[in-house]
Order: sequence, then structure tokens, then C-alpha cells
Amino acid sequence: MKTEDNRLHYFGKLSEQLFVWEGPESSLAFDSEGMSRVLLNLDQPCFAVRKEGHIGLTNEGKLQAATPSAAGALSLLAYSQPLTPEMLGDDAFCRFHGSSYAYYAGSMAHGISSESLVTALGRKGYLASFGAGGITQVALEGAVQRIQKDLPHGPYAFNLIHNPFAENLERMAAETYLKFGVQTVEASAFMDLTPYVVYYRVAGLSLNPENGIEIGNRVIAKVSRREVATKFMEPAPDKILTLLREQNLITEAQARMAKKVPVADDITVEADSGGHTDNRPLVSLLPSMLALRNEIQEKQGYQQQIRVGAAGGIGTPESVLAAFMMGAAYVVTGSVNQSCLEAGTSDHVRKLLPQVGMADVCMAPAFDMFEMGGKLQVVKRGTLFPMRAKKLNDLYLAYTSIDEIPAAERDKLEKQVFQRSLDSVWDETMAYFRERDPEQINKALVNPRKKMALIFRWYLGLTSHWANSGETGREMDYQVWCGPSMGAFNDWVRGSYLEIPEKRRVTDVAHHLMTGAAYLYRLQQLKLQQLRFPNHFSRYRPTSRSLPG
Ligand SMILES: Cc1cc2nc3c(=O)[nH]c(=O)nc-3n(C[C@H](O)[C@H](O)[C@H](O)COP(=O)(O)O)c2cc1C
Repeated sequence: MKTEDNRLHYFGKLSEQLFVWEGPESSLAFDSEGMSRVLLNLDQPCFAVRKEGHIGLTNEGKLQAATPSAAGALSLLAYSQPLTPEMLGDDAFCRFHGSSYAYYAGSMAHGISSESLVTALGRKGYLASFGAGGITQVALEGAVQRIQKDLPHGPYAFNLIHNPFAENLERMAAETYLKFGVQTVEASAFMDLTPYVVYYRVAGLSLNPENGIEIGNRVIAKVSRREVATKFMEPAPDKILTLLREQNLITEAQARMAKKVPVADDITVEADSGGHTDNRPLVSLLPSMLALRNEIQEKQGYQQQIRVGAAGGIGTPESVLAAFMMGAAYVVTGSVNQSCLEAGTSDHVRKLLPQVGMADVCMAPAFDMFEMGGKLQVVKRGTLFPMRAKKLNDLYLAYTSIDEIPAAERDKLEKQVFQRSLDSVWDETMAYFRERDPEQINKALVNPRKKMALIFRWYLGLTSHWANSGETGREMDYQVWCGPSMGAFNDWVRGSYLEIPEKRRVTDVAHHLMTGAAYLYRLQQLKLQQLRFPNHFSRYRPTSRSLPG
């Protein structure tokens, strides 16, 4: 039987001729376990040293030039500086947001990014954004006050989400954040700038005693297209500033300052993610956005450089490291956090997500952009939602009204999908919109296709609530937003304590992703110096023992 070669190999020449190592030889580890321990002591340097033909690793000692006086000392083959998770990414991101890590947990609507998710991460120095999308003003105000109480010094953020069909919700959120002094928002789903996001931004500008511009309201804009990124990277447009001035919402001085700063401090580039996504690969999208940033930064000559971070598909230490190596200032996770204990979802979903593989997600019609053909990424394992939602989309495209749908088809819809008559769905739909947005009803009464869309949106809207609340009997209709990062994460943690749904905590996930990335970075540093490791070293395995505190 062939046994695995657990030794390190060295193929370089240079280092050996230039440097030697001095330190306690008893600290050298030659066995697998000992070497792993040395590599994982990330706040210590790591030396690879040759002794009697074998290569060992140690965190102790120091390197010296290989001068004649150092004759007899052990050869130094490779060296890695201390490399902690806190050192990854752009430290300006951490200073600006008062966080310890260049990592944040993105908003997940309906409070899936819950208060406890935001505060748990905040207490450990990670920024997280509360999922304000789709929740009422009263609930949002309550969440703001409680999070501010729990994290008086931050870091935390709130989602300012654009909804093309409900402008009032965006305005309500912006006003709430201004009223309560929320100092960081994650602005998302924008296709163009609106007065509300600009108002939030500009109302926070002031001059410091040195006549520099102080940014009181920080904006992280999450985008997946260059056109939208450009708008957030440029200063606010005159047209919106004039409008805000006319309404006396900002001062003349603030309007002037707004011309010298971008609308957003940070641009999160969203690749193939859970929920709304353009499905672009991060490796293609990120370089393009970095180039755009460089162009605009140079043109505008801002005092503070706009940072570009990476989201979408990040669920392993390898993907975290890849994003940093490509130039991301920070990384963002979403899907993986939904499977954690703190997420505002049901236990059913929490148990389902750890079983999801990379190919168990697909695009399905979106509740909010159904009529425009908008789609979002959801789980297809253990639920019939994507199939049923697609059926509704097909019917919407094939017919101009509910009455045109053949009787057999309608019967199937009522029995299997809606589990009630379409007439009663319409009654409920009218009651819902009469309270929130009566214009929708007026339009539907004169446009049968619009009526069909509203009826179908009843299903598309409710199914995500059923998933979050764990509606009994509707499990096969659960709509669970999720991207391929979930499958990648599940593959990574298989066999570790994080495989178990009851053990998944957002802080553990963040810690292991960042620690794993730092570990892999160290390995790459040593590899660049021609040190070769057996395969098993190239995997960072999360253990509960390696958690701080
Ligand atoms: C369940 C779920 C809900 C989401 N809801 C929102 C949202 O309301 N607003 C938002 O800006 N992003 C939302 N996102 C996107 C995340 O904030 C994050 O950017 C994205 O999930 C990162 O990609 P990943 O899913 O590959 O980790 C959501 C993602 C998921 C998985």
C-alpha cells in the first residue's frame, strides 16, 4: 500500500544561499500536526528550516543573512510574516466603518439579516447590514433603536433598498435612518440615483475645523452593473441637489460639498449571488469595476479613495482570498449567513440549507419585478417553488387574462399552487393593495393582464414569508433565496462542526472564512518561495477549538 508523503519539499535555491535561521531547534516541528499548528499561529512569523536533510517549521527564532560568521546555522528555506485575518483587505474600510475586519454580512430582506445577526457580528467587530427590505416602518424603527442600544459604537448598517413600484417605502426608510442617526446604509437594487439616497448622503455632510469634508452618513452601494456603479462613484447630480435645495432638505453648503465627494464611499460588486442577481462571475466583474473606480477616482481626485468590495459566490476561504488577491477592499457574504442560527428564518429552512449543493439553486420569477421579467436565485432542492413560479410566468406570457386560461389549467392552479380559488386570491389581493397601494387595483380593474399579474404575485410574494415563518403544510412552496456559495460552503465544512445546522453561528462562519483565507495566504507565500506541501495542508478545516474568546 502506498503511504502519503507527509514531508515538505523544497525546490528553490536562492533563499538557502542568502539566509540562515537562528533559534531553538527544539521548536522545529517535523510532523504533520506540529507543522499545521505552526502554520495556524497566524499572529506569529513562520520559518521553514532544513535540518539534517528534513524540513521543519517553527514560529520562533529569527532570520539572518548567510554571512561566513553564520556558518553552522540552519538554512532558512522560506519565511512568512505574521498574517492575521485583520490584515486582509483594505484597513481604510475598517477604520471608516469602525470594524476589525474587511468583511461584512449583506442585508437579507424581511429581517432574515435579523437584529441578532447584526448585533452578534457587531460585537465581534464585523459589520452587518439589517435586512430592512419588506418590513413595516414600525418594525424598522424598533430594529434601529434596539440595534443602536446593543451596539452604541457600531459597527452596524441598515439596508436602503430601492423599489421601483413603491417609492414611499424607500423614502420612509431614508427618513427613518436620518431621524435616528443611522450612519451607515447598504444601498441596493438601484438602477439610477433617487432623491432619497442622495438626501440621506448629502444631509450628513459637514465641514470640520480644518475645512475638510466630514462624511456623517456613509453609503455602501451594492451594484452589479457599470452604469449604476458610475452613478454612485460620481458626485450627486445637480438636478437632484437642486430639488433637495428647493425642498429645504439640505443646505447650500451641503449642496456645494456634495460636488466634491462620491455618492458612495464603498461599492460592493455583486456577482452570482442569492436573491436578485445578474449571475455574472466575480472573476470577470470585479476587475472591470476596479478599472472603472480607478478611472473615476483619477478624474474626480477625491480626497478619500472609493473602495470596491466583492459579493456573490463567497462561501469558502479560497473565494475570500481570491477576492482579496484580485484587489477587493473587503468581502461580503449573504447566502451562508441565512443558514445560521441568528438568521430570521424558519428551522425548516435552516435544516434545508446545509443540504444544498452547488447545483441545487436556479433562477425563478421575482415577486417584485414579475411583470418586467425579473428573476432571482433560489433553492430548488426540497421545494417545488421554482417549478410552480415558472408555470405562473409561462401562463402570464401565454394569456392576456385569467379568464383566457383553459379550465383544466386553472383547476390545476387552484388545487396545486394556490390551494384556493383564484376568486378568493383576487379578493385578498384587493384587500392587501387597498391598504398599501390602491393605484395597483385601479390599474388592474381596467387591465385584465395586470389583474393576472397581481394574482400571480400573491403566490410569489407569500411563498418567501412562508419559508421565513415555517408555514406548516406549505413546505413544498417555500421560496428560499440562495446562491451557489451555499453549496461551496457546505462542501467546505463537511465533516466539521459547522456541518451541523444547530452549530452554525454567523460569527463562527465569518471567523473561519477570514482565518482560513489568511492561512491559505500564508501557504501561498511559502509556495512562492518554492516550498511544496502535501495536499492535506491546502485545506483549512474549521474547528470550534480555534475560535477566539
Ligand atoms: C436570503 C437572501 C436575502 C437577500 N436580501 C437582500 C436584500 O433585501 N437587500 C440586499 O441588498 N441584498 C439582499 N441579498 C443579497 C445579500 O445581501 C448579499 O449581497 C449576497 O447574498 C451575497 O452573495 P451570496 O449569496 O453569494 O453570499 C439577499 C441574499 C439572500 C441570500
